Amino acid sequence: EDESKMVSRPPVICVMGHVDHGKTSLLDAIRKTHVTDKEAGGITQHIGAYVVSRGGQKITFLDTPGHEAFTSMRMRGANSTDIAILVVAADDGVMPQTVEAINHAKAAGIEIIVAVNKIDKPSANIERVKQELTEYELIAEDWGGSTIFVPVSAHTGEGIEQLLEMILLTAEMCELKANPKRTARGLVIEAELDKGKGPVATILVQKGTLRVGDPIAVGPCHGKVRAMVDDKGRRIKEAGPSTPVEILGLNDVPNAGEIFVVTENDKEARNFAETFISEGREKLLDDTKA
Ligand code: GTP
Ligand code: NA
Ligand code: MG
Repeated sequence: EDESKMVSRPPVICVMGHVDHGKTSLLDAIRKTHVTDKEAGGITQHIGAYVVSRGGQKITFLDTPGHEAFTSMRMRGANSTDIAILVVAADDGVMPQTVEAINHAKAAGIEIIVAVNKIDKPSANIERVKQELTEYELIAEDWGGSTIFVPVSAHTGEGIEQLLEMILLTAEMCELKANPKRTARGLVIEAELDKGKGPVATILVQKGTLRVGDPIAVGPCHGKVRAMVDDKGRRIKEAGPSTPVEILGLNDVPNAGEIFVVTENDKEARNFAETFISEGREKLLDDTKA
């Protein structure tokens, strides 16, 4: 790819960790929202995608579920992002899905920042969390290692600013870049069939800029972007690198994790979908120079 056209892009952060360790609560605290109040049984069952602006710098967050049933969502989350925030409750310590999240993040080759949450609790034990994580090669700086640990409380807001600072610092060192001028491509985060709107896909634009009217192919599906809605529910006309958006206009519901590409025209989008159906993803990616 042409290096001269690459410009810096916002980091995409995956929030991972054991069930109920406070991932969604942390994002609520960061965004000053109340997503957790609306979740059935207080359990996250989808990947949520949010953009946070801090001092003019944007950060895209993917919230993943901690429940053991959602392994593939955690894996997808790690594979679509630049940095993982590993949320570990200070009273509970390292649990099975904490370890699973570490493994996904390591397999994806992404940086891990540890957020030790619930430090407001009397039973919180930050040092015990640090000790437990040494077993997984996540060694805190004050323990002689190089992993960033930030003690936080989603309830009191303590440590949230430091966490955001550490995210931006880590992102800066990753030198994340993308070319906003090329044709767009990226990943499906989630998709469903809406009774009124038809297939609705939440996608993450990774390269290029996606625009309303663009012909698009996603796995066996194709279409034209009819409308785009951002994470705050606003209708938008274009979405650049690292932006999560909901799109309408596909002929069918694509699989989560699938790659989308913008094509020259409608016919090419249809051809891509047909190639995918008849010859599979690998052939298509070869053809389209992933
Ligand atoms: P899943 O998505 O279902 O895995 O859970 P989660 O990790 O998103 O946790 P969630 O935000 O749903 O929080 C779980 C529980 O912990 C809720 O009752 C929260 O109110 C509570 N909680 C979250 N953060 C804190 C915190 O900093 N301090 C205290 N005391 N409680 C917290
Ligand atoms: Na929960
Ligand atoms: Mg949650």
